[in-house]
Amino acid sequence: MIVTCDSGKLADIMSKNDFEHLPLTELRRLASNWRFPGGTVYLNHGSFGATPTEVRLAKRRWQDRLDDQPMNFFVREFEPAFHTARETLSTLVGTSPENLVFVENATAAMNIVAHNLHLEKDDEILLTDHEYGAVRRIWDRKTRREGARVVEAELPWPVHDTSEIIKAIFSRVTSKTRMLVVSHITSATALILPIHQICQQAKSLDILVCVDGPHAIAQEELSLNDLPCDFYTASCHKWLCGPLGTGFLYVHPEHQSSISPVMQSWGRLLPAIPKRWDEEFYWSGTRDPSGYLAIPAAIDFMNLIGLNKFRMISHQLAQVVRHRLESLTGETAWVPDDREYYGCMTEVPLPEGDWSELQNWLWQQHGIEVPIIHFKGHWFIRVSCHLHTLPEHFEQLFAALAEAFERSPDFQSSP
Ligand SMILES: Cc1ncc(COP(=O)(O)O)c(C=O)c1O
Repeated sequence: MIVTCDSGKLADIMSKNDFEHLPLTELRRLASNWRFPGGTVYLNHGSFGATPTEVRLAKRRWQDRLDDQPMNFFVREFEPAFHTARETLSTLVGTSPENLVFVENATAAMNIVAHNLHLEKDDEILLTDHEYGAVRRIWDRKTRREGARVVEAELPWPVHDTSEIIKAIFSRVTSKTRMLVVSHITSATALILPIHQICQQAKSLDILVCVDGPHAIAQEELSLNDLPCDFYTASCHKWLCGPLGTGFLYVHPEHQSSISPVMQSWGRLLPAIPKRWDEEFYWSGTRDPSGYLAIPAAIDFMNLIGLNKFRMISHQLAQVVRHRLESLTGETAWVPDDREYYGCMTEVPLPEGDWSELQNWLWQQHGIEVPIIHFKGHWFIRVSCHLHTLPEHFEQLFAALAEAFERSPDFQSSP
């Protein structure tokens, strides 16, 4: 059973700035949809999304059907269920099912794009300096192998407004720029980029765009048909709460004929023959597809609560956390305090010092999972807020941080 909450009581929370004004009873009810081992405070949904019980059960039901009678499952049940799952996901992200294929994660999707793109010598792939490290590695390898190169646009940091972001990216465009690879929401800095404007400008310059979007699914309203990008790579196991190991690749119809899987298999289980680009991705060898088939359960789960409600509550939590962390650290967050720039994750700089041991210490001493990020010579704490994160979890974090700051510099030499 999915536990939802009463929307009426949420009406005025956006204007308030501390936890007391949140509808705590309702939030507790929502949080009961997740199970964490006792004592764990889970504030890193952004790296590894925690799966609600309902979605875990849905996945297990598919797994049982598969394990009970594999041949019947694969030959007769798999494709119809696969189509339903893809249709449900495509509705969520605003495109038609034929434009997207399931892959394990955003990483797999990005590899497919890189694998299929033909580069000439000296071609340039433009990335920002806030891109996810593994994405950078994919394009470093690709360009190294093909005599092309990666060009890095340095984003303003701290950020003040979107125009400086756009300027920073497009000042690095040259006649050799083939593709722009850009996050919808960045990982290391939890920054929402002005993706529509970026895509539009890239298209006007005839540059391909691949949007790296794992953090945007559910966190942002998305209509891929209206976003002028060529490729969109995503994971469903972050904010959408899909099963771990689920993601997708969107390809604009213009490029579909030139995209094929990195790992060649039958495409569709025999005797069916793949006829379209997307059908090459149905069957990539025998494996457990239960995660993909349980994506509709995750979408139902989020829809039943209400995606807007989720966005509103988690942003409100993130905003209060941001303000409290700013008071605690004496620092100011490096992105504007506006929903346009951050959603369910907030990141605040830590006071001067070496905080390389803090993440481990928070887990070992306090059972708190939260990433401590070193980015461009500064230490930051990035806190993820979802429907399972409660004010008492954040209070535990603030108390633990206060203790760590009190022990500084002693903390920093021997935590
Ligand atoms: C911006 C960004 N891109 C790509 C990825 C890779 O996602 P996955 O590990 O689901 O493939 C991440 C993971 O956190 C990310 O934050």
